[in-house]
Amino acid sequence: MPLVTSKEMFAKAYNGGYAIGAFNVNNMEIVQGITEAAKELEAPLILQVSKGARAYANHTYLMKLVEAAVIETGLPICLHLDHGDSFETCKSCIDGGFTSVMIDASSKPFEENIEITRKVVEYAHDRGVVVEAELGTLAGIEDEVKVSAEDSSYTRPEEVEEFVSRTGCDSLAIAIGTSHGAYKFKPGTKPQLRFDVLEEVSKRLPGFPIVLHGSSSVPQDLVEKINKYGGAMPGAIGVPEDQLRHAASLSVCKINIDSDLRLAMTATIREFFAEHPDKFDPREYLKPARAAIKALVAHKIVDVLGCDHKI
Ligand code: G3H
Ligand code: 13P
Ligand code: ZN
Repeated sequence: MPLVTSKEMFAKAYNGGYAIGAFNVNNMEIVQGITEAAKELEAPLILQVSKGARAYANHTYLMKLVEAAVIETGLPICLHLDHGDSFETCKSCIDGGFTSVMIDASSKPFEENIEITRKVVEYAHDRGVVVEAELGTLAGIEDEVKVSAEDSSYTRPEEVEEFVSRTGCDSLAIAIGTSHGAYKFKPGTKPQLRFDVLEEVSKRLPGFPIVLHGSSSVPQDLVEKINKYGGAMPGAIGVPEDQLRHAASLSVCKINIDSDLRLAMTATIREFFAEHPDKFDPREYLKPARAAIKALVAHKIVDVLGCDHKI
């Protein structure tokens, strides 16, 4: 089976009350850990590549790793550009074999966001590629861009119909209180997503797939493990998984997870070196790191996304 777009996945997820996991990939062990879990659980999958991942690992290497995963697993896999920052970046991924791109012009004024998104949609649709766009601004860190909590803003539901109809985008990322990275909420506060905003958006866009970025839950056992073995992560708090599960049962069809994979990998490698200070073969520490990613993704698929056995 070749790479697929997210169109059919989203239609089934919307109607079935579950979401597809969109996991960021940067190297072979991450691709393998994610796809081994999805294969065992017969889960459709989105693998996403950021601008930073392309700069780190190279477009062709990532493309070929994902193609290898398709061959090895036989799964329907969508290869998606995460946070495309310009028409040129999106074009390069469309020309280079991706089946889905995100154009993230959410920091631009409304009209400018529409204009650039529309341009990407025209180019992508002519080539059978789907487009995710964003309205509203998430707090947190993506590549070199850092958005403070004060500069973040919830999506304005009254803008979504005009935005979707004028751009022709296939899915819409909205801001309802999630944010990128491991420090999403202040320690001691009770994280609460704005389901009222999600509900308003969904009412105005019936049947339309909504995307949540910044959806790592920052498992405290992983943070504790990192700190136990020499790390110093202060007060890292993520999105509660029960709220993500609820969002997945509504109109949210794609949930983005990256930081949790990083935590799983780093916690495992730190533990390995603490217990085996004499070892230096990368295979020995990457093997348990890959297994930790697999276990984490399996948990997300079953307990958070609800997309197991949906092929
Ligand atoms: O939203 C950002 C993703 O976690 C990707 O992060 O830009 O550091 O690759 P990155
Ligand atoms: P997290 O940092 O919460 O994992 O979010 C990832 C993301 O939104 C990728 O686009
Ligand atoms: Zn994101």
